[in-house]
Amino acid sequence: MTTFKRNIASVVAPATGLTEEAVESVITLPQHEGQGDFSFPCFPLAKTLRQAPAAIAIDLAKRLQPPPGFVKIEALNGYLNFFVDKSDFASQVISEIIQNGPAYGNNAQGTGKIIAIDFSSPNMGKELAFHHLRGTMIGNSLSRIYHKNGYKVERINHLGDWGTSYGKLIVMFLRAGLGEADLPTLTLERLNALYRDFDAASKQNPGLEDEARQAFAKLESNDAFYRILWASFREVTLHELRRLYAILNVEFDAYVGEAFFADRLESVLELLKSKNLLRESQGAEVVDLEAFGMPPALIRKTDGSTLYITRDLAAALYRREHYGFEHCFYVVDNGQSLHFQQLFKVLELLGMDWHGRCEHIPFGLVLIKSEDGGWEKGKTRTGQSSLLKDVLEAARDKILGIMAEKNPDLAGSHEIATRIAVGALVFSELKNRRLNDIRFEWDQALSFEGDSGPYVQNAHVRLCSILRKTGLDRKAWTVADLNGIRWEIFTDSSSLALVDLLAQYPDKVVTASLSRDPCPLAQYALSVADAVHRFIHDCRVLGVPEERERLLLVHAAKSVLGSALELIGVPAIESM
Ligand code: ARG
Repeated sequence: MTTFKRNIASVVAPATGLTEEAVESVITLPQHEGQGDFSFPCFPLAKTLRQAPAAIAIDLAKRLQPPPGFVKIEALNGYLNFFVDKSDFASQVISEIIQNGPAYGNNAQGTGKIIAIDFSSPNMGKELAFHHLRGTMIGNSLSRIYHKNGYKVERINHLGDWGTSYGKLIVMFLRAGLGEADLPTLTLERLNALYRDFDAASKQNPGLEDEARQAFAKLESNDAFYRILWASFREVTLHELRRLYAILNVEFDAYVGEAFFADRLESVLELLKSKNLLRESQGAEVVDLEAFGMPPALIRKTDGSTLYITRDLAAALYRREHYGFEHCFYVVDNGQSLHFQQLFKVLELLGMDWHGRCEHIPFGLVLIKSEDGGWEKGKTRTGQSSLLKDVLEAARDKILGIMAEKNPDLAGSHEIATRIAVGALVFSELKNRRLNDIRFEWDQALSFEGDSGPYVQNAHVRLCSILRKTGLDRKAWTVADLNGIRWEIFTDSSSLALVDLLAQYPDKVVTASLSRDPCPLAQYALSVADAVHRFIHDCRVLGVPEERERLLLVHAAKSVLGSALELIGVPAIESM
């Protein structure tokens, strides 16, 4: 009921000198029936105003106008009681939803502004591990949230496809006796295995590191054969990535990886030199950041090869020029915080007055249960962490099993199970604050009860199925549907609680953008789902005199919940 509380605060605060937050935090529900819907206790004011609470209440009741959504204010025993104009409130909220259709909750905050958002951005030759899901889905959700806030969003996959690692991959590929003829049948699994084996192999043969460096140097100097290998490795990686992104319904506007910047690195070095920022340190070239409490940014190694940060500098300059962004977001786990602090500091030292528009959006770790029962970070390198495709498949199979029991005749069950699996996994990641580490537990993520994706999806399914029964599921609703609606039908507590939540949606869209966190929207979707389940339980929709009004609310709730689910990347399914 926060909208009501906020409106009360907006009139009480100026009259009492309290802050709106202070007023909101003490508002309670009246003790008895007939005493209104909200109470503001005047006791805390007695001391400062040197007056009895009862007198303060009487005085305020006389002076204040009922805020929007309220019909009257009464004083009683030191309390100010507020009476909600329930039908008027329902009429305003539901009319707005119908009038705006899918645009309900949109705002113009970002009109004419561009956000470049770099997310997911995995490394070539490696399979996506389960923990990659978090950054991918936070980035995906943020891009949709900013779009709803009116921004033009450019979604960038900054694939890690350049650097000595790819020399390692070429060396391992050739050592395995593979060649050009094997490229058409190469899989990412195979590449990942080659990559993984490098560490063990180089322990046996210390010369291998050198070989890898030379292989990368050859690649850098455009050796035709190495280029072909590299391009195939990249294609194999992208092929599998695109398959997984399609399942997750994640899209990118650009796959511009690190290699893209290879021929812009010299000019970055020139620029750094021209600003007198490069120092020599044991044969390497660095930007000294000691004055800012940071270790030096290593720009070029002794052997002449450039680094991750060099390519990120080139990428930032390119993005600014290419997109003219208002903000450039980097959705990357908090393990890379220092890297981004260094990157932004170097941009500042270069005199880029837009450096403050670049922002690292860090997120916490996904912890998995280790053999000894403790919690640890999932690692791809060692192959300890589960692969995303395996987790998705296992989740889908588990759901198929449950569906076979509960709803054996469901058409398209395979597809639906996949979408429930995605919903379960994505929701369990986004319902937590972005920066919190999260513990992944199977049973919790796949539960149909409580704070889970399927529970929220199920609320959407129940709304859809009510509409389907009356043939209204594909109806285009218009303001004509509001004619003759008896708004007093929505004044029972379950309907009103649902209407109040629907009213909060536009605010949540803004909050999520300001906090750069999908979590408030995930929590919001959960509250709406609770209210939907309660409404359906308490208010019969079909075959009652209130049917027409309640169907309208069912449609409004379906459209808002569907939109919120879309923003967090949880599939809004229609049957399960
Ligand atoms: N490829 C990097 C990794 O897997 C993440 C890249 C993030 N984006 C960036 N512009 N640095 O750790």
